[in-house]
Amino acid sequence: MPAIIVVGAQWGDEGKGKIVDLLTAKAQHVVRAQGGNNAGHTIVIQDEEFKLHLIPSGILSSHTQCHIGAGTVLDPKVLLDEMSYLVSRGINLERRLGISEAAHVIFPYHKILDVLGENRKGERRIGTTGRGIGPCYADKINRIGIRIGDLVRPSLLHSALKNVLTLKNEELVKIFDTTPLEFTPLYEEYVRYGEELLPFVKPVEWEIDQALQRKENVLFEAAQGTFLDISFGSYPYVTSSNTTAGGVCSGAGIGPTRVNHTLGVVKAYTTRVGNGPLPSAVENEQLFGSHEENRELGTTTGRKRRIGWFDVVLVRESIRLNGIDSIALTKLDILDRLDEIKVCIGYQVNQKRYDRFPSVLEDFDRLTPIYETFPGWKTSLKGISNFEKLPKNAQHYLRSIESMCGVPISLISVGPERERTIAIRDLFRT
Ligand code: GDP
Ligand code: IMO
Ligand code: MG
Repeated sequence: MPAIIVVGAQWGDEGKGKIVDLLTAKAQHVVRAQGGNNAGHTIVIQDEEFKLHLIPSGILSSHTQCHIGAGTVLDPKVLLDEMSYLVSRGINLERRLGISEAAHVIFPYHKILDVLGENRKGERRIGTTGRGIGPCYADKINRIGIRIGDLVRPSLLHSALKNVLTLKNEELVKIFDTTPLEFTPLYEEYVRYGEELLPFVKPVEWEIDQALQRKENVLFEAAQGTFLDISFGSYPYVTSSNTTAGGVCSGAGIGPTRVNHTLGVVKAYTTRVGNGPLPSAVENEQLFGSHEENRELGTTTGRKRRIGWFDVVLVRESIRLNGIDSIALTKLDILDRLDEIKVCIGYQVNQKRYDRFPSVLEDFDRLTPIYETFPGWKTSLKGISNFEKLPKNAQHYLRSIESMCGVPISLISVGPERERTIAIRDLFRT
């Protein structure tokens, strides 16, 4: 199975970083293909914790090549800071990191417009991360974006930035009544970023293709989650990229036929950070214990994540949208202390039962979740590395999820650390 996509199946923060780090043991390449530093992937290796926003989680294993694909949006300062952070923690990046020339560059006006746009929306704000992601993708689609290939060529950057800054300054001044940005310091700052990034600019798509031809193992690490997808998520409360497996293919420049397995990372419950519907929201979040202990504070913004019960409708839809072949079920240990565990098995709208995830926002207001209740196991799962050793009630919960979702669970995570994992199937073996 040389090519595996690891995709978030809910609203992000499912634990993709942990799962990718784990699978990297058998992968030679790890690729990020979409999103930007709105993502935050946390990896715990023994006593050490790493938080990554742009560089693939695979970078923590010294044998891998990591690639940042054309579908991403990159804030060069954040990227350079992340690179220095890794180097300061003993991670070598030389000849291990490649950045596509076609990835788009985030400029300060993107971040300013992200925040101003949100403020203007008032009650209807998305709750974005404020990192300029939406405005940068908007420029890409509008064909006025500036790419890494321009950034590393000062003359191209000069003319592209001159043109676009005139437009952005008009927007800042005339629409938002705020101060314009000066061209020269901005240009000079970004030329410096370009110089620093130049050694890492590589023909990423070509290198991935070569690796696949050599039958090396390639992992694709998606960012965000399926229901933050710009087309299929809970629009408009979504991010601005395609976060599904299809988005990974287009963002990395590989054809869908090259993918051997799509692994959906699914939390044993549901969380959401930012605004928008969460049909299976728990009434009393305190049942779950503290957000800090449960690691349910946003990796990027530090906001508390909202908590919901496992939603079968949501996960089934995700399996369909991504073509998920198997599930990595994470954070099962967070349910350890619950007396009973609810699972949303369908939605009810005006006495009628629905088994589909609504595509129109207003429909969320009308639906009531239908729950099935499972008994808790009330014991710590710490140290369990074998499915048969799990308490019977935990086994029952997992088997029920598997049968309701219709795909097998290939991996169970019972803690943030690498070793707190129950492997059921080796995905890299055909
Ligand atoms: P990602 O964005 O999908 O990579 O997920 P995040 O890293 O943003 O959020 C998941 C959080 O849960 C991180 O702090 C992880 O260290 C942590 N985590 C991952 N898997 C587990 C698990 O099985 N149990 C517990 N308790 N924490 C986990
Ligand atoms: P990872 O990769 C969870 C959410 C934001 C907001 C919405 C739009 O760590 O799973 P944006 O800044 O992208 O325009 O914000 O998307 N969001 C995430 N939520 N995990 C993420 O990434 C997210 N990236 C964006 O909170 O609701
Ligand atoms: Mg995250």
